[in-house]
Amino acid sequence: MTNTYEINENGQMEIGGVNVLSLKEKYGTPLYVFNQNKIEEIASVFSNTLKSEYGEGLISYASKAFSCKEIYRIMDNLGLGTDTVSIGELYTAVSVGFNTEKVIFHGNNKSIEELSFAVKTGVKYIVLDSVYEAQLLNDIARETGKVQGVLIRVNPGVEAHTHNYIQTAKPDSKFGFLISNGDAKEAIKSVLALKNLNLLGLHCHIGSQIFEENSFLLATDIMLDFYKKIKDEFDYSFSVLNLGGGFGIKYIDSDPTFTLFDYQLFIKKIINEVKLKVKNNGLEKPFLIFEPGRSIVGKAGLTLYSAGYTKEIKGIKNYLAVNGGMSDNPRFALYGAKYTVLAAERLLDKKDTKYTIAGKCCESGDIIAENVMLPKAKYGETIAVLSTGAYNYSMASNYNRNLIPPVVFIKNGKDRLVVKGQTLDDLIRNDL
Ligand SMILES: Cc1ncc(COP(=O)(O)O)c(C=O)c1O
Repeated sequence: MTNTYEINENGQMEIGGVNVLSLKEKYGTPLYVFNQNKIEEIASVFSNTLKSEYGEGLISYASKAFSCKEIYRIMDNLGLGTDTVSIGELYTAVSVGFNTEKVIFHGNNKSIEELSFAVKTGVKYIVLDSVYEAQLLNDIARETGKVQGVLIRVNPGVEAHTHNYIQTAKPDSKFGFLISNGDAKEAIKSVLALKNLNLLGLHCHIGSQIFEENSFLLATDIMLDFYKKIKDEFDYSFSVLNLGGGFGIKYIDSDPTFTLFDYQLFIKKIINEVKLKVKNNGLEKPFLIFEPGRSIVGKAGLTLYSAGYTKEIKGIKNYLAVNGGMSDNPRFALYGAKYTVLAAERLLDKKDTKYTIAGKCCESGDIIAENVMLPKAKYGETIAVLSTGAYNYSMASNYNRNLIPPVVFIKNGKDRLVVKGQTLDDLIRNDL
């Protein structure tokens, strides 16, 4: 398995063979850096495992994790699909000629403009999350002279996060039609009556950062029991099953280490359950879709900052401020996400000082990580925050009118800019 970074003989970090100091000199900080070899490696493992263990199916990269032209080019070249949740993501994918036969369009409140764009660009799967949306989409498809392929998002009543999962009788998610209270069945009935929609199957997504397979196996059972029920009651067979994404990655030492083999095994176990259930329930083998996001790009990416001022509050804590913050990584502020932080030029130095890594935004909650052990910080040195490839750049904002940093990819020892950093002029471009 490709490492995101290596340590050279001087104790400095090298990402895919490129020294952090040269990256810093060339592109400045903050900087998002991705090891493309690592992205391609894991994407291929998902895709090859599905092909070899199951056959007909699609790994659809959930681009909400990280979206820009280059990632769509890479996924398209690898033969993966992509999962989009807004006209913005879809437009970006289409702008590089992504094969829309492999595009899924999600969202719980898609606008008419978004639905029309998806139909017009030939998106194969639009995932419905409301009966009203189904009617709107049917009208759009009819006016366009098309029959649009759709999935319905259902809620199997399984929620999973990290090691825990719960099965609740009445989960209150804003996403999906509940199976247990009959909403999903009603939605299916409504969609089947719409002549310009072709109901291909159902979709569920049970959570994120999941490390154990039982929640997936349970959701698989519930989904395929429901497929049987629909077949028996409506004499209708679904040809597609989409089980969503949510595979976990290691952020900190206490998270499980997942090797490529572990991901392979994880997918295999779900596939075996699908096969077993399909057989036991007398169903046709569906085209199987997974939508991993975080697990494809998360560990391949890291953020480089420059160390700023430190503040020691005697007997309480030491702050080390970096030249970014919640404007490039809001995940601690949003839900207390944890990260591994390293002094990237001094990886072999003794870590003798405990820091809270603070950003530069005007919010007390603008923290990147707490209780991080580092060598005593030096002003201007490079601070690396690991595993920021997912839900960082895609969640970045101009809060405090901070600039969104550039994105650099490294492949086979060569770095290249894939997203330019914003400029001050970019900030005022739309202001009147
Ligand atoms: C419908 C759907 N599919 C896929 C994903 C990707 O999840 P992850 O990045 O955890 O794999 C999400 C994440 O929220 C989602 O909502």
